Amino acid sequence: MKYNDTYKILTYGCQMNESDSARMSMQLESIGYKAVDSLTDAAIILINTCCVRESAENKIYGKIGEIKHLKQQNPSLIFGVVGCMAQKNGEQLFHRAPHIDFVLGTNKIHELNNVINEIKHSGHHLTDLAPADGGVPQEVLPPSNNNFSVWVPIMYGCNNFCTYCIVPYVRGREHSRSLQSILTEVTNYAKNGVREITLLGQNVNSYGKDLPDTNFAKLLYELDKITGIERIRYMTSHPRDLNDEVINVIKNGRHICTHFHLPVQHGSDRILKAMNRGYTTTEYKTLIKKVRSAVPGCSLTTDIIVGFPGETDEDFMSMLNFLREIRYDAAYTFLYSQRSGTPAAAMAEQVPENIKKKRLKQLMDLQNSISLDINKTFLGKTVDVMVEGPSRTDVQVYTGRTSNNKIILWKKSGNEKPGDIVTIKITHPQTWVLKGDAQYAK
Ligand code: 5AD
Ligand code: SF4
Repeated sequence: MKYNDTYKILTYGCQMNESDSARMSMQLESIGYKAVDSLTDAAIILINTCCVRESAENKIYGKIGEIKHLKQQNPSLIFGVVGCMAQKNGEQLFHRAPHIDFVLGTNKIHELNNVINEIKHSGHHLTDLAPADGGVPQEVLPPSNNNFSVWVPIMYGCNNFCTYCIVPYVRGREHSRSLQSILTEVTNYAKNGVREITLLGQNVNSYGKDLPDTNFAKLLYELDKITGIERIRYMTSHPRDLNDEVINVIKNGRHICTHFHLPVQHGSDRILKAMNRGYTTTEYKTLIKKVRSAVPGCSLTTDIIVGFPGETDEDFMSMLNFLREIRYDAAYTFLYSQRSGTPAAAMAEQVPENIKKKRLKQLMDLQNSISLDINKTFLGKTVDVMVEGPSRTDVQVYTGRTSNNKIILWKKSGNEKPGDIVTIKITHPQTWVLKGDAQYAK
């Protein structure tokens, strides 16, 4: 090992984990650590974990295993496992992988530097987990090396207990950050040149339910007034909690993006009930009508789980018909994964893997054709795009997103830079991206 003041964080899972990792980086940097790209150059390695599906956990166990030889080569390497899987599996992780130095739970990331200090002095394994339902995450320094776009956690945890989902068990109950601390954080970002924020929470529409006198609508309204912030995004919304007040603020907002991500999870009422989602397909459709008429031109995306226990061919057909009727811009589709400890894991009639996979393919094919059809309607139109930067495959091809979250690719035309808004004329719409020509840089 060449250095003793370097770190590398590997992040799995959702945007909340990305945001937690950025905040952990900030803590390490406040005591003099520097980020490195390669694991072999790192004096501290952290894996920020996800356990929402078994496939994520398996991948992470593989990565944990790979780090064993680095620890053998360099016994002073400090290796921590943090986040959801750490919270779920706790001490068991040491049995499975004794080369882990510490395990830090989801509501304890503010303790990172203390834990590292303790490991350095004691050299012992250490576990720090608040009970998932008791831990209130503490305020952690927000990242300072501002990009044009940042994640802003506004609330942690979830009270919904959908029967398939492990999140409430590992992230605990809902806790909102104070309105003032979010506004101060975003105002500072804006002063430093941030142009886009994405508010994060498992159920952002519940924001403020645990605080006096505030709610998600109020938060959006206040954030919309901050000079410099051109785009406000948020995820994820629970369809049951998206109320008229929020829709109105979005409708009248200046910078609130016209993209609704409203996970439906299934299109059969029987399955929705078994999932404990708290709405019927009819109620969901009414909500979509309301949203689409309040915010014309908005885009709509969703999450869908295929193969929930007891899902019959008929339920699956209802799902396909539901997709045909709603016509989402895009859907994130998942094979149901049995998570032990959740009610659905104990349900009889688990759907065989081969049937799940066949259904998933059918569903994705249908959704892809709908996405393509919708994107084709953009042919010849011009759209305003916030520049993200060069695409992964070609530095001359730039990428960015519209307010309604379409991914746009174009040949760099001038000196556009991340955070600028440029106008692009769409020439080649595809299923996942729309290609076009820059008209001029604003
Ligand atoms: N199996 C498959 N997908 C799941 N999700 C949550 N739990 C499970 C599970 N056990 C999906 C839901 C959620 C998204 C983030 O992950 O669709 O909206
Ligand atoms: Fe999981 Fe349901 Fe909470 Fe989303 S709303 S995090 S799916 S329990």
